[in-house]
Amino acid sequence: ASSVQEAFEPSTYSGSDDENGDIDWDNLGFGIKQTDYMYITKSSNDGIFEQGQINRFGNIELNPSAGVLNYGQGLFEGTKAFRREDGRLFLFRPDQNAIRMQFGADRMCMPSPSIDQFVDAVKQTALANRRWIPPPGKGSLYIRPLLIGSGPILGLAPAPEYTFLVFASPVGNYFKEGLSSLNLYIEDEFHRATRGGVGGVKSITNYSPVLKALTRAKSRGFSDVLYLDSVYKKNLEEATSCNIFVVKENIISTPPTNGTILPGVTRKTVIDIASNHGYQVEECTVPVEELLDADEVFCTGTAVGVLPVGSITYQGKRVDYKTESQLVSRDLYSTLVGLQSGLLEDKKGWFLEI
Ligand code: COI
Repeated sequence: ASSVQEAFEPSTYSGSDDENGDIDWDNLGFGIKQTDYMYITKSSNDGIFEQGQINRFGNIELNPSAGVLNYGQGLFEGTKAFRREDGRLFLFRPDQNAIRMQFGADRMCMPSPSIDQFVDAVKQTALANRRWIPPPGKGSLYIRPLLIGSGPILGLAPAPEYTFLVFASPVGNYFKEGLSSLNLYIEDEFHRATRGGVGGVKSITNYSPVLKALTRAKSRGFSDVLYLDSVYKKNLEEATSCNIFVVKENIISTPPTNGTILPGVTRKTVIDIASNHGYQVEECTVPVEELLDADEVFCTGTAVGVLPVGSITYQGKRVDYKTESQLVSRDLYSTLVGLQSGLLEDKKGWFLEI
């Protein structure tokens, strides 16, 4: 069978915990590694997604006039599966990704899988690929749900059919800097999103337009780009791949999710942890000048985790933060990692055992 046929053929999966000899767990980074299986289903005409199935990982076939290829009708999600010391496997808040996909699908005129269907698909994908879930402390299985307009369309309109697909890849640190602090570059030529746009949903169309600014910043030695709002051009929004937090004494400020920044699952989790740890967390407009006298700055994201910012460069001026004294982000990071590893008790029920 060709890889395309194989990808769409039903198969019973035989994912096991067998040793995975092919992989260097100590140097995972954040690249795509081909795993064994993926989940796939399509919507019927009434927008209901059929019962999906786990197939061999492989190419998918799309009509050249598919909505996603021509008009970018698509959303993606990112979530992770973790292996603990006792061998048990957990997903982290997949229901939050399901809710965000439903919200985004409404904005992009797409039907979406139910929350149960989404969570079940993520669970099946993780279990089918469980030999790819890294050993504790080495990383996680990054799970990528995709919702795309796969039906053919020529005039601009919602596609007549949708595909919901979930694939996965083992990952380590997102940035090549590892867990070292990030050097951010504030962009004042390009913007990531604008009011009334789709910055608040995980539309695939949010990501390629920022590649120009990102590659330019990386070529100048920066880790990532930090964006400003497109109206006043003076308030912080988010980085390309993560949300931003600014700390001054006991107050942690982060831009509000009012439609131009992504409502991150890690962002929401960190706000919750920080409030419980006694910090005053404010979701409010954060003017760029606040970076000048901040005690520390950090980023959060599913791929990124919680990472301190070491410097921010804006209009030719660089502000450095003393990373050894970034105690707030260290506190939040170690709590998140403690919960993921099971060393801390999951009082909120954020982890789903699979
Ligand atoms: C994630 O953190 O899961 C994301 O989707 C960010 C992406 C740029 C890797």
